Amino acid sequence: MTAQIRFEMQARDGLARSGVISTPRGDIRTPAFMPVGTAATVKAMMPESVRATGADILLGNTYHLMLRPGAERIDRLGGLHEFMNWDRPILTDSGGFQVMSLAGLRKLTEAGVTFRSHIDGSKHELTPERSMEIQRLLGSDIVMCFDECPALPATDKAVAESMRLSMRWAARSKDAFGDRPGHALFGIMQGGVTPELREESAEALKAIGFDGYAVGGLAVGEGQEAMFGVLDYAPGFLPEDKPRYLMGVGKPDDIVGAVKRGIDMMDCVLPSRSGRTGQVFTRRGVLNIKNARHQDDPRPLDEACSCPACSNYSRAYLHHVFRSQEIISSMLLTWHNLHYFQDIMAGMREAIAQGRFAEWEAGFHAGRAQGDI
Ligand code: GUN
Ligand code: ZN
Repeated sequence: MTAQIRFEMQARDGLARSGVISTPRGDIRTPAFMPVGTAATVKAMMPESVRATGADILLGNTYHLMLRPGAERIDRLGGLHEFMNWDRPILTDSGGFQVMSLAGLRKLTEAGVTFRSHIDGSKHELTPERSMEIQRLLGSDIVMCFDECPALPATDKAVAESMRLSMRWAARSKDAFGDRPGHALFGIMQGGVTPELREESAEALKAIGFDGYAVGGLAVGEGQEAMFGVLDYAPGFLPEDKPRYLMGVGKPDDIVGAVKRGIDMMDCVLPSRSGRTGQVFTRRGVLNIKNARHQDDPRPLDEACSCPACSNYSRAYLHHVFRSQEIISSMLLTWHNLHYFQDIMAGMREAIAQGRFAEWEAGFHAGRAQGDI
């Protein structure tokens, strides 16, 4: 077991990068897509199936796990990896973002945030120190700083004040995290869509010093054009030799655009959540399996996909089990979507290594323009 988490950059093509983050629990090939396992499960998937899609790392959530079943309980049961039967790396988000989107009756102060659980209304507090403690109890491999993500649109003044609070919390997160060989702590850049604030945030994080750097505060309703606008400059404010993680993104074309602009890691509920609502991502675009036009269709979801849903089942069958609300529908569609997202990542990693990312990207967009899926 190596004691430290290291990032080795292996290739660059334009601003796109590929490499490996090595951890005591295994390697993370970058660019990496992290499936979301909020409540200690990637919904509708066994952990070995998640691995079979090509995932090297999962994301878990401080907010959900502290409320249910509780961080101290998970610790007593051997930690999150043991609890959920996933022995590879886990990154945990720090909770602030989820408090703002899910919890009731929130109160934000310099110290942290108090809130009521969305599950039973009980009262809780999260601070940078408590978030670090919870993520330690969970046994997270990559720990995220405790931050605040303002809803956009907001005034420059509000975004600046929120960002500066997040930077003070980042310093407290680092102090509370301490020295933990084999575990990494990532800072989170905020600053909305304002270059000066993004730069100020990056400088504050670099002065503190982290093992990796996330770009937060995006995919909160600003639209792809504004997000790419920020990604055109923000990664450049961050250290070259550390992983860069874009939080909560995104659709396949968001992911490709982010990698093109120098992002190494991403996470999103989209492939797993869509799997449960019948939305299917394919090389030719998005389809909804609920649609009646699939009911007699013997073809697979995606001719070029090697996942179990595409290898063994027709669109007609998948339409039928979706309409019948059979559990296998969520299982197969989630598996396909996660497999497709991992295929995109593998395709980009290979293309970057071979210096033909632009060609790969052109093929990606051309495939989706074909229509009639
Ligand atoms: N997930 C998506 N965006 C964010 C963010 O800005 N901060 C945190 N902690 N998590 C996120
Ligand atoms: Zn498939």
